[in-house]
Amino acid sequence: MKPGDFEFVSQLVRERAGIVLSADKAYLVESRLAPIARKEGMASIDDVVAAIRLRRDSRMIETVVDAMTTNETFFFRDKTPFEILETNVLPELVARKRGGTLRIWCAAASTGQEPYSIAMVADAMGPRLAGTKIEILATDLSERCLEKAKAGTYTQFEVQRGLPVQMLLKHFTKAGDSWNISPTLKGQVRYRAMNLLDDFRALGRFDAIFCRNVLIYFDLPTKKRILDRMAMQVEDPGFLFLGAAETVLGVTDAFKPVSGFRGLYARDTARIGARFAA
Ligand SMILES: C[S@@+](CC[C@H](N)C(=O)[O-])C[C@H]1O[C@@H](n2cnc3c(N)ncnc32)[C@H](O)[C@@H]1O
Repeated sequence: MKPGDFEFVSQLVRERAGIVLSADKAYLVESRLAPIARKEGMASIDDVVAAIRLRRDSRMIETVVDAMTTNETFFFRDKTPFEILETNVLPELVARKRGGTLRIWCAAASTGQEPYSIAMVADAMGPRLAGTKIEILATDLSERCLEKAKAGTYTQFEVQRGLPVQMLLKHFTKAGDSWNISPTLKGQVRYRAMNLLDDFRALGRFDAIFCRNVLIYFDLPTKKRILDRMAMQVEDPGFLFLGAAETVLGVTDAFKPVSGFRGLYARDTARIGARFAA
């Protein structure tokens, strides 16, 4: 990369997506931009950067920012949050709602494995939902990821990562080398592009938020701003699931850890019931 190009790209990615690229990530920028140069028929990544620096090419800006996101995900990632969802969080919310609709927001949905895992948990609840409907809104910055999520088509490798075989057989059909998720599960998840740096109040209020494995890419003030705004969007008691390497501790007081339930936080832990007695 030309001198100054790494700093330029990292500044762009930080401004547009909040993602912090430390000085030792030049190799990452090079390896993610090289395929863009090839696809665009450009001689090198210097041309990719020039298209942005000199021409402010907006399509190229979006492509580069998207390429710098890490979209790693898999079905039932870390397992425990989905067990807690089924055994504790959904029963608590169902008891509070007594019918009506529960809204769950999956705020960094990537290619769909997380929102579809939530939908599979909801399906497994069956009569325990007592007629309560579950609406899942899945958002992500990456339009490319959302397209794949909406299609609901996964490779053999992807369905072998974390998805129990009985869930695979129940909710997917095989089509050649791929697996298609059932129209029922697909119909339970709505997808929408959303940058977490932007105002998300228009999404409405939620009974639980999954914001997993995305805050790790942001600096402390950005994490705090996002969590504080999320706290305004959740109904009592304000459940939040974070990734295994993430916490609210030292970031914000807007959510507190639910003692004994790893990865689960609530805005108001005093308001959660006996199901959560540690
Ligand atoms: C590592 S994936 C996590 C996927 C899933 N939540 C999980 O835990 O398996 C992180 C996702 O966050 C998205 N992302 C990164 N920055 C974002 C931002 N500013 N706003 C919304 N999504 C963002 C990326 O596009 C990527 O799909």
